[in-house]
Amino acid sequence: MSETKAVADLGEDEARAELARLAKAISAADKAYHRADAPEISDAEYDALKVRNAAIEARFPHLKRPDSPSERVGAAPVEGFGKVRHEMPMLSLSNAFDAADVEDFVAGIRRYLNLGPEAPLAFTAEPKIDGLSLSLRYEKGRLVRAATRGDGEVGEDVTANARTIGDIPAKLSGAPDLLEVRGEVYMSHADFAALNERQERAGGKTFANPRNAAAGSLRQLDPEITRARPLRFFAYGWGALSEPLADTQSGAIERLSALGFPANPLTRRCDRLDEMLALYREVEQRRATLGYDIDGVVYKIDDLALQARLGFRSTTPRWALAHKFPAELAWTRLEGIDIQVGRTGALSPVARLTPVTVGGVVVSNATLHNEDYIAGRDARGNPIREGKDIRVGDWVQVYRAGDVIPKVADVDLSKRPADAQPYQFPEKCPECGSDAVREPGDAVRRCSGGLICPAQAVERLKHFVSRAAFDIEGLGAKQVESFWRDGWIREPADIFTLEERYGPGQPRQLRNREGWGEKSAANLFAAIRECRRIPLRRLIFALGIRHVGEAAAGLLARHYGTWGAFEAAMTHARIDEGPEWDDLLSIDGVGAVMATSLITAFHQEAERASIDRLVALLEVEEAETRAPATSPVAGKTVVFTGTLEKMTRAEAKARAEALGAKVSGSVSAKTDLLVAGPGAGSKAKKAAELGIETIDEDAWLRLIEGA
Ligand code: IVH
Repeated sequence: MSETKAVADLGEDEARAELARLAKAISAADKAYHRADAPEISDAEYDALKVRNAAIEARFPHLKRPDSPSERVGAAPVEGFGKVRHEMPMLSLSNAFDAADVEDFVAGIRRYLNLGPEAPLAFTAEPKIDGLSLSLRYEKGRLVRAATRGDGEVGEDVTANARTIGDIPAKLSGAPDLLEVRGEVYMSHADFAALNERQERAGGKTFANPRNAAAGSLRQLDPEITRARPLRFFAYGWGALSEPLADTQSGAIERLSALGFPANPLTRRCDRLDEMLALYREVEQRRATLGYDIDGVVYKIDDLALQARLGFRSTTPRWALAHKFPAELAWTRLEGIDIQVGRTGALSPVARLTPVTVGGVVVSNATLHNEDYIAGRDARGNPIREGKDIRVGDWVQVYRAGDVIPKVADVDLSKRPADAQPYQFPEKCPECGSDAVREPGDAVRRCSGGLICPAQAVERLKHFVSRAAFDIEGLGAKQVESFWRDGWIREPADIFTLEERYGPGQPRQLRNREGWGEKSAANLFAAIRECRRIPLRRLIFALGIRHVGEAAAGLLARHYGTWGAFEAAMTHARIDEGPEWDDLLSIDGVGAVMATSLITAFHQEAERASIDRLVALLEVEEAETRAPATSPVAGKTVVFTGTLEKMTRAEAKARAEALGAKVSGSVSAKTDLLVAGPGAGSKAKKAAELGIETIDEDAWLRLIEGA
C-alpha cells in the first residue's frame, strides 16, 4: 500500500508512481471543486493529498512533474462580507437520538426546576429545518441588519441579500422598537431541482443538496444573484428585544407570525412527553411530502419565565432539545483505507468507498474512527459489530446523520472476498516516518514527530486561521499550505511578520507570487494587521491545544480575564498539585484531562517558545464576561449551603455563575458570601467564625433580582 508508506521509506520508482497518482487525484478534485458545490473529497482529504505530494517532492526534487500540483495555487481570496457581532449569541441545540434521550431531557428539567413528575410542564414541538440560521434586526420596524450565525458570536453581514427574500418583511408595524427575529433560511425541493437544472444548462455549478444551495445563494457577494434564487424563511425564535413578545414560546411565535413572519405550520404545543413523541412520529411520517428538508424535531419549554430560569450551558440552551431523525444507511464496497494525520498527530483511518448515495448525497469517503474500530473492538477491548473486523474489499454499511461525517457502521461477512487480509494499522507516521505511538488508555495512535511532522505543522496552521480562531480574510487552508510549502509561514508567528518579509520594498514580494496581485496582497496584509488585536478566547482556541475546544477556550478566557493571568497560571501550574491546578479545575467544564493537556503544552519548550513568539506580535483583548457589569455578585465567590426552597442547587449555581459569581463548594477566607437555607451546619459556623456575610435564600433572590 504505497499511500500509507512513510515518505522516508519510498523507493524512487514508488515515489514516481505516487506523484503521478497524486497529480491525477488532485487535478480531478480541483475540477470537481470548481464545477460543483459537491466536492468529491473533503477539504481535509484534499489537503492531505497536497501535503503528501509536497513531502515526496521535497525528498525527490528531481522527480517533480512538469504538471506538479504544487505549482498551482488555489483560487485568489474572495473579498468577503462585513462582520457583525450578535448582541445575543446564536447558540446551537443539544441533540437526542431516541425517545429515552427525550425522556432524560424532560426529567432533567424537572429535577433542575424541582418539579414533581405530575407538575404541569408544557413544551412546543416543531420541525427542525435543515437550512442555515439567520438573525434579522429590526429597529423601529425597519430591517436594518441581517447576519448569519458565524461562530455564534460574530456572523456575516448579509443584509442586502436578506432584503431580496420574499418571506422576510422589510417593514413591520406594531413591533417592539428593537426586535431581532431568528429563523432558518432554506430552499424547497422543487426550487432546488429547478435551480440545479438551470445551473447545469448554463454550465454553472450545481449544488449537492438544498441546504448547500441555500447557503451558497445567501452568501453571494452580489445580492442580485441572491434575488434570482428562490430562498424561503421560517421564524423560530428571537435575539435582542426592547420588550417581551409574549409570556410563552408559542405566544411569541404567534406574535411573529402576526407581524408577517412565516412560522412552521407543524408547530404544536404539547403538555406531555407522549404528545411530544407523537408529534415527532407524525412529522417523521410527513417528512417525505413536506417539500423541504428537515432533520428532526425541536422541543422547547413553552413558559418563557421557565426558559429564563433554565438558561444556557456554554453553547446550548437547557430549555431546548433537537430530536434528530435516524441516520440514513447504504451498502457499498471498501476500496481502500487512507491514513490522515491531524493537528495533534492523530492518525485517522479514512475509508475510500465505491461512491454511493446516502440520503441524497454521494458519499465516497467515511471515517473508520481508529485502529480498534477497524479491528472490531472498543477502547476497552470489548467486541463491537460482534467482533467483525473491517478489511479492504469488504462490503460495508455507510451511515450518515445530518451533516456529520459519514461513518462505516457495519460489514457483511458473507460478501468478503476470499483473499481479504486483516488491516495492518501503520506504526509509523505516513507523512514524516516518525513512530506512531499509542499511549495507554488512548484509542488513537499519534505521530510522535510533533512540529517536525509536516502534516501536523500544516494542520495546526490551518486550525490557527480557521473561522473560530483568527479567521484571517484571504488566508485559508489552501493559502496556508502553499505558504508553508515554500517556507514563508512555518508557525503562527510567521503570519504576523509576512508583510515585513514579503511586503512592499522587499526583494521577494507577495504581489509577485502566482495567484496574487497588488490588490490581493495589500488586502491580505491589511487583514493580518487587523487580526493582531484578538479576543483572548479566540487566541486560546487558536493555539490548538488538545482537548481545548471553542467552548473550553471561552471558559478559560472568562476565568483568567487576561493573557498575562492565563499565561502566568499555566506557567506555574503543576499537574495534579498546587493552587494553580486547583484553580484550573475549579472552572466548571474543565477536567483533569484538559488541565493536563494545557499544562503540558505550556511546559513543552519548543511549543512554548512558539507561543511566546506569537503573543509578542499580538495585542490580546481582555475577555468579555457575559455577566452584566452591574451585577451585584460579579467577581464574588459564593457558597450555597442548607436546603434551598425556591430553586435547586443546580439552578442557584448556574444563575450565580451567569451573573459573574464564582460558586464554590466550601467556605474559606476567599468566600465573599454564604447563602444559607434551613439546616445549614458547619459551613454557616465557619463563615461566622471568618466573619463572612451570610444571607438566606430570600435575601439572595432580592439581591440578584433584575440583574
Ligand atoms: S431553536 C437557542 N428551532 O438548528 C437555539 N433551531 O442545531 C435556537 N434550527 O442553529 C435554535 N430549525 O439553525 C431552533 N425550529 C428550530 C430550528 C432550529 C432549525 C437550526 C438552527 C440552529 C441549529 C441548532
